[in-house]
Amino acid sequence: MIIERLSREHRNVETLLAVLEHELEIFDRGDRPDYQVIRGIIYYFELYPELYHHPLEELVFAKLKLRDPAAAAKVGELTLEHQKAAERLRRVGQAVHRVLADREIPRQNVDQVVRDFIESERRHIMMEDRDFFPVALKALEAQDWTEIASASIDPEDPLFHEAAEETFSALRARILQLEREAEAARH
Ligand SMILES: [Fe+2]
Repeated sequence: MIIERLSREHRNVETLLAVLEHELEIFDRGDRPDYQVIRGIIYYFELYPELYHHPLEELVFAKLKLRDPAAAAKVGELTLEHQKAAERLRRVGQAVHRVLADREIPRQNVDQVVRDFIESERRHIMMEDRDFFPVALKALEAQDWTEIASASIDPEDPLFHEAAEETFSALRARILQLEREAEAARH
């Protein structure tokens, strides 16, 4: 089911945000965080939400606008929020890149940029879980879900989506494994 899949992905994202936050704390106290983990997380966010999660949510949102415009208006500008999220992520990528390239960048700026990303993502997910998904479940009809499901799968290559799901779940597992190793080495 589509909303279940979107909710599951929110939980995955929250896990990765917690890892990112932990690495940021290490950075903030002046130690060296695990940059492989951080870059893995950035990479994950560059791909999964951009390619799957946000487009799928936007399909659901378009249907909600038709079925219940007032409810959609309460959710707000979803596409714009997703664009802002992508912009915040770009800033995180740039900040980390500058740190790794040993370019002059105040620690405080890095902290601010990464924290802003983490907090905005959390707020956005909370809003969607609370204000968007329940009203979509209520307002959309069976036919809408069928249409969304077929629109979200590439008719040229129906297996592509499954393969991608597996790739991303492997990527998440790899990031979490690297994080466990980094933690073990720290203690
Ligand atoms: Fe979402």
